[in-house]
Amino acid sequence: MRKHHLTGLIVVSFLSWAIVIYFILEGPHGNRISLLKSPDIDEKLVVLEEKIKEELKANEVVRSKLHQAIELRIKEKEKAIEDEKRKIQIEEVYKVESAEKEKIKAISAHSDSAIAVLVFACNRVTVVRCLDQLLKYRPSPEKFPIIVSQDCQHEATANAIRAYGDQIFHIQQPDQSEIQIPPKEKKFKGYFKIARHYGWALNQTFFNFNFNNVIIIEDDLDVSPDLFEYFLGTLPILLADPTLWCVSAWNDNGKLGLIQQDAPHLLHRTDFFPGLGWMLTKNTWLELAPKWPRSYWDDWIRQPEQRRGRACIRPEISRTRTFGKIGVSNGLFYEKYLKYIHLNDKFVPFTQLNLTYLLQDNYDVQFVKSVYESMVVTYQELKANSIVTDGPVRIPYYTKDKYKRTAKMLGLMDDFRSGVPRTGYRGVVSFFYNNRRVYLAPNANWKGYDITWS
Ligand SMILES: *[C@@H]1O[C@H](CO)[C@@H](O)[C@H](O)[C@H]1NC(C)=O
Ligand SMILES: *[C@@H]1O[C@H](CO)[C@@H](O)[C@H](O)[C@H]1NC(C)=O
Repeated sequence: MRKHHLTGLIVVSFLSWAIVIYFILEGPHGNRISLLKSPDIDEKLVVLEEKIKEELKANEVVRSKLHQAIELRIKEKEKAIEDEKRKIQIEEVYKVESAEKEKIKAISAHSDSAIAVLVFACNRVTVVRCLDQLLKYRPSPEKFPIIVSQDCQHEATANAIRAYGDQIFHIQQPDQSEIQIPPKEKKFKGYFKIARHYGWALNQTFFNFNFNNVIIIEDDLDVSPDLFEYFLGTLPILLADPTLWCVSAWNDNGKLGLIQQDAPHLLHRTDFFPGLGWMLTKNTWLELAPKWPRSYWDDWIRQPEQRRGRACIRPEISRTRTFGKIGVSNGLFYEKYLKYIHLNDKFVPFTQLNLTYLLQDNYDVQFVKSVYESMVVTYQELKANSIVTDGPVRIPYYTKDKYKRTAKMLGLMDDFRSGVPRTGYRGVVSFFYNNRRVYLAPNANWKGYDITWS
C-alpha cells in the first residue's frame, strides 16, 4: 500500500515537473520563438534553472523517502523471521527441558536423601572447568544430581553444557525480559539478573523438582576433592540445629598464612553468610522465597531480618576457590583477596567424623571458654612471634576502627555486612597466625552486632 502511494507521488511530481517545463518553454500564448527573441532571455533562463533545481530537490526528497520505506519493510521482514526462529528455538528448548525436568523429578521421587547440586551459569563457557571437577569428584549421580541452570541463553555456553549429555541436567531461565532498574543502579544490572535467576532456579529445584536440600555452586568455582563428602557429613548437623541455616564451603580468610594447614578436618560456626558453594534446606527456602529481593541477594540475606541470629558452618580450609570472573564481580576484589584463598586438597572423611561439636549448645560453651581464657596479646607481639606460652591468644578490639586497623595489618578481610565482620562468630574472628590460634575479639560482655559498622 505504502509503496504504491509513493510510486504515485513520484509520477505526480514528474508530471508536474513536465507541465512546468512545458509552460515555461511554450509560454502562456504558445509562442515558442519568443523565448529566443526575448530581451530578458537571461532572466528567463535563470528562472528556468531555479525551477529545475527545485524539482530535482523535490524528487530527491521523494526518492529518499521511498528508500527509507523500503529499508523499513526489509527490517520488519527480518525481524519477523528472527522472531519466528526464536519462537521455534524456545519451543525446542521447552520440549527438551520438559523431558529433562521429568527425569530430575524422578530422581528426587526415588530418594529423599538426594541432594541437588545447582550450578548457576550464564554466558561463560568456562563453566566446563567447574563441571569437570564436580563430575570428577562426585561419588554418585543418584545421590548428587547436577542441575545446571543457565540464564542469558548464551548459545556457546548452552552447547558446552549440552556436551555433557545425561551426566548432568540443563535447564534455562525463561524470562529474558528487560528488568526495570532505577537509573542510579543501571550499572548494577547484572546483580538484578542474578537475583532473578536465583529466585527462579531455587523455586524450580525445591518446589518443582521437590528436592529437600540443595548445594549452590557458581560457574567460576574450583572445588575440593572432598566437597561432596563435606556437605554430606554436615547435613545432619544443619538439619538438627535450628540455629544453623547454611553450610558453606568457603573461608573468607582462607589464605595460606591465616589457616591451620594441618587441620583440614576443622570446621567452625560463623554469623557471616559466606556463600561461594553453600547448602540450603527447603525449610529455609520456604521462608526466603516469598520475599526474595530483586537484586544484591547476598547482602540482603545477611540482614538481621533474614538471618534472625542464625549461623553457617564454614571450614578452616576452603572447599571452593573462585578462578575469577569477568562481569558483575569486582575484578579488583578478586585480585586483592579472592585469588589467594587456598583450596583444600586432602580428602577428609567427614561422614565418619563426630561433628556434634558444631551444635550450638556444645560449640558456644567451648568457644567462649577458649576465646576468653586465652592470653591477651598485642598485634606487635603476635607479629614478632615473641609470645612464650602455647595455646590460643586474643587481640581485643572495642571500636570499629580498631578492628579494621588490626584486620588490615594481619591481612584479614576488614569489611562488615550488616555489622558482622567476615567469618565472625559472636563478634570474634578466629584465624591461625604464626603457628597458633588467634582471636580478634570484642569484650566478654559483648552485646551483639552494631549494624552501623560497615
Ligand atoms: C518462588 O516461589 C515463591 C513461593 O511460591 C513465590 O512467592 C515467588 O514469587 C517465586 N519466585 C519466583 C522468582 O518465581
Ligand atoms: C561426639 O562428640 C561428643 C562431644 O562433642 C560426645 O559427647 C559424643 O559422645 C560423641 N559421639 C560419639 C558417637 O562418639
